[in-house]
Amino acid sequence: METVIEKKVALITGATSGIGKAFAEILSAEDYDLVLVARNSDELNRIAGMEMTRNETKVIPVSLDLSKADSVDRLVAEMAERGIVPDIIVNNAGVGMAGEVVKLSMDRQLQMIDLNVRALSAITMKFLPDMVARNSGGIINVSSVAAFLPGPYMSAYYATKAFVQSFSDGLAEELKGTKVRVMTLCPGPVDTGFQSTAGMDTKRWTYKMMMPKTAEEVAEAGWAGFKAGNRTVFPGLLDLLTAWSAKFLPKMVLMPIIKFFQKPKQS
Ligand SMILES: NC(=O)c1ccc[n+]([C@@H]2O[C@H](COP(=O)([O-])OP(=O)(O)OC[C@H]3O[C@@H](n4cnc5c(N)ncnc54)[C@H](OP(=O)(O)O)[C@@H]3O)[C@@H](O)[C@H]2O)c1
Repeated sequence: METVIEKKVALITGATSGIGKAFAEILSAEDYDLVLVARNSDELNRIAGMEMTRNETKVIPVSLDLSKADSVDRLVAEMAERGIVPDIIVNNAGVGMAGEVVKLSMDRQLQMIDLNVRALSAITMKFLPDMVARNSGGIINVSSVAAFLPGPYMSAYYATKAFVQSFSDGLAEELKGTKVRVMTLCPGPVDTGFQSTAGMDTKRWTYKMMMPKTAEEVAEAGWAGFKAGNRTVFPGLLDLLTAWSAKFLPKMVLMPIIKFFQKPKQS
């Protein structure tokens, strides 16, 4: 039997783990029905079953690789077919890659750019006109403190987040005076699957001293900030200070520090 959506709808990408999964739990508890997107269909179905039982939330799991060029069109078509219009979008799916640009796979770095930048932009551009027409709705784009500074040994990843931040800040200003909101969530390190996917060494003291947060803490801070009407949310004081340091410290001071923190063992 087809799932019928009756309540307000939140579309969440990257909902099978980490921050996206934590957002799914929060928004389900806030009485949203959910459209959850990620590649792992077994995990999507498992989470869908869990949320449906727990909060009587209707969940549409959509298994897609968002780094593929046609994926957003497929998502839009699937939602249109079911007559689903999102009230809230959490553009969260994203990956990182640690290492030197010249040593990392070019194809994988380009796939990361397609996921972190292209898919996020396409989802925003596809659904935003309808939000503007209705004069309601909101988009939470998951950015990072990495958005505010160049990141040697994660250069392409940092650049993707700089795009997310700049794009979202510009959009938020364009939408000023309407009831449609665009917010960025800018965490520092969060203990999720992100680090192992990116090939980061979480045992190093340089990682531990950044005091990683949990996905739940970050999603809760994001949702609270969104409800409060904030444009940018830093889940922790250290995250805010990192972003601020990028504003005030010259690059010639900042770059060697980041390079030291992120230098892979083998380099
Ligand atoms: N963790 C951190 O330290 C940190 C810090 C700052 C910002 N962020 C940002 O937070 C966001 C969420 O990351 P996370 O920390 O929660 O990592 P995570 O636990 O690894 O979750 C990533 C999510 O994205 C999905 N995903 C990955 N590749 C995908 C693809 N090609 N198509 C569709 N879905 C895909 C994954 O599901 P499938 O594998 O099932 O596809 C998973 O649900 C990312 O945008 C990341 O840049 C993370």
